[in-house]
Amino acid sequence: MPLPNCEYKSGIDFVTNNKEQTHIFYNFVYTLLNIHNLKRILYSVCIFSIISWYPALAQRQCGFEITKAALIAKDPAWAQKLQNQKASLQSVADSYKKNLLANKGRKTTAVSAIPVIFHYLVTNAQLLQLGGIAGVQQRVDSQMAVINRDFNRQNLDSVLIPSGWKPLFASTGIRFGLAHTDPSGHGTPGYDIKIIPNSPGGFSGASSNYSNAKHASTGGTDSWDVNKYLNIWCTNFTDFGGLLGLTTYKSGTGIGGFPLDEEGVVLNYAVVGKRVSSADYYIPTTYHSDYYDQGRTLTHELGHFFEIWHTWGDDGGFCPWNGGFDDGLSDTPPEGDSKYFAYPYTIAGGTYRDSCHLNGSVEQQPYGAASLDFMNYTDDVAMQLFTPDQAAVMASMVLMSDGENYSLTQHPELLNWSPITGVNDVPANYSLVVSPNPTSGVVYITFNQNTDELQEITVTDIFGKTIYNNHISGSGKSIYSIDLSGYSKGIYLVRCNFASGSITRKISLQ
Ligand code: ARG
Ligand code: ZN
Ligand code: CA
Repeated sequence: MPLPNCEYKSGIDFVTNNKEQTHIFYNFVYTLLNIHNLKRILYSVCIFSIISWYPALAQRQCGFEITKAALIAKDPAWAQKLQNQKASLQSVADSYKKNLLANKGRKTTAVSAIPVIFHYLVTNAQLLQLGGIAGVQQRVDSQMAVINRDFNRQNLDSVLIPSGWKPLFASTGIRFGLAHTDPSGHGTPGYDIKIIPNSPGGFSGASSNYSNAKHASTGGTDSWDVNKYLNIWCTNFTDFGGLLGLTTYKSGTGIGGFPLDEEGVVLNYAVVGKRVSSADYYIPTTYHSDYYDQGRTLTHELGHFFEIWHTWGDDGGFCPWNGGFDDGLSDTPPEGDSKYFAYPYTIAGGTYRDSCHLNGSVEQQPYGAASLDFMNYTDDVAMQLFTPDQAAVMASMVLMSDGENYSLTQHPELLNWSPITGVNDVPANYSLVVSPNPTSGVVYITFNQNTDELQEITVTDIFGKTIYNNHISGSGKSIYSIDLSGYSKGIYLVRCNFASGSITRKISLQ
């Protein structure tokens, strides 16, 4: 059985490129037929040329295979462990489905949304590229919407699923929410931003799963308790320009594996969220030849986080009956190698067939290959589903009380804004409430008593830049209002300076 392997393709891989050229060419011809789509044509022409001249550019890297190779490098015993893990998945899926049937209509466990924290590690220039804090906020919010929809059979592009695949369009029942209380009990918007030095302007070390990004001591951001929060680091990969994301799943941590506190997902900072405007910066297509601007990289990586494999099984492109072993799940049809780009659907009611569609004369892909599965490498716009078996494995990890990720669903309190949202550096006699928080514009600062001592109210962004300043002298009022509706969405600090000290509160403008 061939071992999973994925090497950095620095040279020319003729097999890969012939195949990719064929796909591109196919795509190109198909595009010509749709002449209304001028942009797509230009794109195809451009990519076709790039691939002809610089074949290596077309090869995107795959985090999952890097992670597996890294585990095997740590200890060769991982090769067998990983194969065993894959071979166990069907029974995990089956027992979940059986359990569901047995408990039909009865909720056995109380679970809540998984608290998610995004740790941005970007340079000032990269933050600007993302549209500043308002851009980050939009990307994080739209990313949350995408994963909640994709994991719950609510993605609107499911209208694109061909009829033959419709019965295989499944829901996991897993939900996600931004964390709003941090590990020290303070309020958080669900993301933090650390400005990193322009040089090197990112992190390297794919084979360590970007360990350096996961520790403050090495310039990154420490994980928040991985048993309570889903940690997502967003940064620039300086060693693998083509990498979109990479996941450290629980079964790969612990003795002989990655450190426990490094569990989570690392994403390229320019694939987070869903594009709203053509001006938004997403990972350049020159590297990748396709588009990753619909938030599907996180959907895909979370599939790995919850222990499922690529649909073709990372078995080197073999068919299961020919020395390969696919993803261990029976409802994803046998498949040769990964699929890139957006495929034209050539089977009535299905997708299209690849080299593994026939075992002897028996059709293995009645509705085509799973190019539309979130666990393939296709464009974000070309993937629309998880199958019932994939969903069952993931649900079993997350929703079952003995599942490896179950603890993530047991902390609803972390989804709420903490009452402790700021630091009190003095006033014994004064307290205040800032509301509404989050706000869409006007906020009211209500003091517990008239504030003869209040001297100044300032609002700063999280980098300390003052955006509002009001000098007050002995007004004696107990309520003040500030209108922030002209400012970018994001987190701000409201600071009330008294003669005897100050009170600071964090507010979120949404
Ligand atoms: N780990 C994979 C990679 O970096 C992610 C693929 C995600 N695919 C997508 N359409 N977003 O290549
Ligand atoms: Zn993957
Ligand atoms: Ca399969």
